[in-house]
Amino acid sequence: MENPTGQRDGEAPSPSSTVTNYPVRKRVKTSIVGLDEMLSGGLFEGAITLVRGAPGAGKTTLGMQFLYSGITDEDERGLLVSFEEFPFSLHRDALSFGWDLRKLAKEEKLRLIFTSPRIFLSSLQSPASPLNHTIQEWDVRRVVLDSISHFTRMTRNPIELREIYNNVINSLKREGITTILTSEDSGTSLLTEERGRLSFVVDNIILMRYVEIDSTMQRAILVLKTRGSDHAKEIRRFELQEGGIVVGTRFEGREALLSGSPRSMGPRP
Ligand SMILES: Nc1ncnc2c1ncn2[C@@H]1O[C@H](COP(=O)(O)OP(=O)(O)OP(=O)(O)O)[C@@H](O)[C@H]1O
Ligand SMILES: [Mg+2]
Repeated sequence: MENPTGQRDGEAPSPSSTVTNYPVRKRVKTSIVGLDEMLSGGLFEGAITLVRGAPGAGKTTLGMQFLYSGITDEDERGLLVSFEEFPFSLHRDALSFGWDLRKLAKEEKLRLIFTSPRIFLSSLQSPASPLNHTIQEWDVRRVVLDSISHFTRMTRNPIELREIYNNVINSLKREGITTILTSEDSGTSLLTEERGRLSFVVDNIILMRYVEIDSTMQRAILVLKTRGSDHAKEIRRFELQEGGIVVGTRFEGREALLSGSPRSMGPRP
């Protein structure tokens, strides 16, 4: 006699009867040394990733590197929307890492837009806007919004803010665009209380922090969540250098690293 799974009584389940065959989801590589490994191979295509970090931590650099490598390594066009820096200043900063964004913009592989959150949101919601035209005509696959923190100034109402976040995220998800949202965060706790609860809406969260060790400031990176996938749990060092971000080894022998007062882990009594 067959049970509801189509398996006969007393028969061992065959692998095909017990394992659902989910379609394999494509991973989009950040091409940042060490980070793809922390993300179990990269970000899922179409996922929304929040990169939270202190001022100067490297958030914009991470976003630019994601777009630059998408174009040069994967031939995926990109769009960087900045709410804080003019394109000339982004071009200048990118050049210091060795990335000629102006050339990519001329080749219509990358677009840099400097705008306000309000204009961006209304352009995103109007199908005939130049923004949507670029997204469709260019087949933009990667977007960076720098920084999403500017949306908090659009309203004092947390429910309205959450709706704004949902509108932005759903519009980008609908197009299957892999997106990085940067966000300002200078707190010391891992999960800061935020208006609009953005951390709950996004698929992935990456934290970039400074840690003080032996009187020097070092840069630390941590993957806090990845929906639908495993990720590295340790806090790792990273450097900013010519060529961009390079993620190194974990901090050995330290605890409470992100608390603002890390301690050496001496031998236990
Ligand atoms: N060529 C380079 N080599 C090494 N470090 C660099 C280079 N160019 C810039 N930096 C460093 O990058 C850091 C700034 O990075 P970035 O602008 O990505 O940070 P951010 O988190 O976006 O900052 P903000 O919060 O101000 O927007 C600076 O601390 C600067 O020292
Ligand atoms: Mg920045």
